[in-house]
Amino acid sequence: MSGRHLAKQQPASFEFDANFAALAQKRIAMYPEGKQASAIVPLLWFAQKQHDNWIPEAALRHIGDLLDMAYIRVLEVVTFYTMFNLAPVGKHFVQFCGTTPCWLNGADKIKDACKSFIGEENTITADGEFSWLEVECLGACVNAPMVQINDDYYEDLDEDSFKQLLADLKVGNQTKIGPQTDRVNSAPLGGNTTLIDNTLYDGSMVGGYKSVLKQIEKAEAQAAKAAVAKAKAEAKAEAKAEAKAKAAAKPKAAAKPKAKKTAKPATESKPKLLKAARRGKADDLKKIAGVGPKIEGILQQLGVYHFDQIASWDAAQVAWVDAQLKFKGRIDREDWIAQAKKFVEEGDK
Ligand code: FES
Repeated sequence: MSGRHLAKQQPASFEFDANFAALAQKRIAMYPEGKQASAIVPLLWFAQKQHDNWIPEAALRHIGDLLDMAYIRVLEVVTFYTMFNLAPVGKHFVQFCGTTPCWLNGADKIKDACKSFIGEENTITADGEFSWLEVECLGACVNAPMVQINDDYYEDLDEDSFKQLLADLKVGNQTKIGPQTDRVNSAPLGGNTTLIDNTLYDGSMVGGYKSVLKQIEKAEAQAAKAAVAKAKAEAKAEAKAEAKAKAAAKPKAAAKPKAKKTAKPATESKPKLLKAARRGKADDLKKIAGVGPKIEGILQQLGVYHFDQIASWDAAQVAWVDAQLKFKGRIDREDWIAQAKKFVEEGDK
């Protein structure tokens, strides 16, 4: 990039005309009190627009006064941005991009064409029609190489199309702004490479789409059915558990007493009885637990005097004696038979 210096030839004064003065005031009013300096870039732009596409020193001072800025601050800004021209430029001012993407795509040829058609950089053609300047990337790298002429971009240039463009501008022909090829804006060279299947747009996939929708609906219906079945099963299990819990909490009805099995009365059979005690001496039957003097008397009346008589009774005979004693079950309960057997074995001591 060339140096950024003020032009040697300067007008004596500068003031915004009524139109740009109004625009400048409108812009300044957009900023809060004390922050008017923020309007400097648009004001510089207005000055350049009013003054044949370049900004004289007098305009810098005028703007400094309007924004209450030191002149040096205004100069710092205006020399930073290459969009501001500090010296006169041609009627068609060409800003040529020489940055890498444009350079890789043939910007050198464009630069050569600038030199051959217009002359050296920063010089104006004798008829005042053209001047050019090399600048850094102008942000249209996809369409490299490119140039900016005044406010318009011309892209996808080659040597021939650029020379033709300059020739058309020179004679006032209408020019095509933007890509100089058949490319649409920044679309891929040679046409689109993605989303090129027409079925994406012509509606022919609607059937397929509907079938997918049906599958989704079917799956959703199945899921809903399964959910209902699950809910029912859970409710059933819950009710069952609840009933079980209730039943457990209920006091149990008193268990019916089991009917006592009444022993089938054994067939009674009269045991062998004696008319009197042997050798006139009866055993002491009261030694048998459960036999007192009264029962002993009854037994003797029946003809039972000895332990061996009692030890020999079978069930039917026990039943017969029970019936005579009127103490049903007593003989078994006290186990007279076993007691009597013991006395027989051990002898009546
Ligand atoms: S490199 Fe030229 S426009 Fe970006």
